[in-house]
Amino acid sequence: MFKRTEKNLVVGLDIGTTKVVVLVGELLDNQGIEVIGVGSHPSCGLKRGVVVNIERTVQSIRKAVEAAELMVGCRIHSAFTGIAGAHISSLNSHGIVAIRDREVGEFDVERVIDTAKAVAIPADQKILHVLPQEFIVDHQRAIREPIGMAGIRLEVRVHIVTGSTGTAQNIVKCVEHCDLQVGDIILEQLASSYAVLTEDEKELGVCMIDIGGGTTDIAIFIDGAIQHTSVIPIAGDQVTHDIAIALRTPMKSAEQIKKEHAYAISRMIEEGEMIDVPGIGPHASRQLSKKKLSEIVEARYEELFNLIYLEIERTGFKEKLAAGVVLTGGASLVESGVELAEIILNMPVRLGAARGVSGPQEVIGNPIYATGVGLLIAACKQGSDFGMSALQSPDEVSMWRRMRRWFKGNF
Ligand SMILES: Nc1ncnc2c1ncn2[C@@H]1O[C@H](COP(=O)(O)OP(=O)(O)OP(=O)(O)O)[C@@H](O)[C@H]1O
Ligand SMILES: [Mg+2]
Repeated sequence: MFKRTEKNLVVGLDIGTTKVVVLVGELLDNQGIEVIGVGSHPSCGLKRGVVVNIERTVQSIRKAVEAAELMVGCRIHSAFTGIAGAHISSLNSHGIVAIRDREVGEFDVERVIDTAKAVAIPADQKILHVLPQEFIVDHQRAIREPIGMAGIRLEVRVHIVTGSTGTAQNIVKCVEHCDLQVGDIILEQLASSYAVLTEDEKELGVCMIDIGGGTTDIAIFIDGAIQHTSVIPIAGDQVTHDIAIALRTPMKSAEQIKKEHAYAISRMIEEGEMIDVPGIGPHASRQLSKKKLSEIVEARYEELFNLIYLEIERTGFKEKLAAGVVLTGGASLVESGVELAEIILNMPVRLGAARGVSGPQEVIGNPIYATGVGLLIAACKQGSDFGMSALQSPDEVSMWRRMRRWFKGNF
């Protein structure tokens, strides 16, 4: 059954709060990626983006991996996986070094990034990403690839993302229990941004908001580089929970009712449109107006968008977001969600699905898969030049590979 061994494959593993998705991408000759395998399974062991039950998470990953393996007809040995949750924090830092031979070399870039990384972080946190925003050679700013430039002093401004060491170790543990190796761990909103944002948006200034099941992940890009990342622990599952409590209906029915009938702006619904709400246990089902349902949903989305507004304002980047906001993730699919976001955030908002890759429309056109597709793109940025295949175990990440990643992946 497992025959396909020659292809150059990359694998993205999105361990979300509501579902685990495995995407297998094939690197095409024209440098593009085609999604050739998809495996998805409901996620059982996570809360608000963080693994809380290893056994159940492992089972969900196994099922998703098996489904993807069956579809592509090969074994998966390694995957790039995401990390999210309230334990993630980020800061901007700055480094300066003297250029050794009056011309910037790899060694100078390595040293300047090392100096920028030398910040005090809590003992239980580890650095997940060091993302260069710009290099400055003498007084020349906004340099993306400094190697080869003449000068005396090299500076770098970086965005550093840190996360709980234990949480990252738990992700690795779950993946390794499934006999897979972790190619790398990527911040989920960074992965999603690779999939849904255009280069123009990143240049002009854009805020990407991935509203998932357990967390809402925010990433702000200005002048082509990431400036801010944060996580709000409110997302689609809270909306479902609110519906289940208010309507006294099982979570499963609440989830279904939300997806089929709910609007984020309740005044868009006429009075009198009724839906069936199943009761809990022996209780009979009842009728409820769609407007009442949407009022419950609207309250939670309003709270979420207000928190996002405050967060954007707190960063000081609000006036610089000329390209507005891009919403992605499953909970961004709620009817009239984009319109509500436009009203509260007071800027243009669009729904973002994966772009720049080919494959089944239900994957490419669906914001639920944005992180998975982004992980594939991240895997290609880091691995494709080295012929790394999902069928081999990844080598130690060499210095050169890290350098390529800083330049290619992070702007
Ligand atoms: N059509 C829809 N309308 C409203 N909500 C939806 C719709 N489709 C999916 N959702 C919600 O999207 C959420 C799942 O989104 P997603 O798959 O992006 O989350 P996840 O990646 O598993 O979680 P997280 O990223 O927070 O760890 C669920 O709360 C689900 O109810
Ligand atoms: Mg997600």
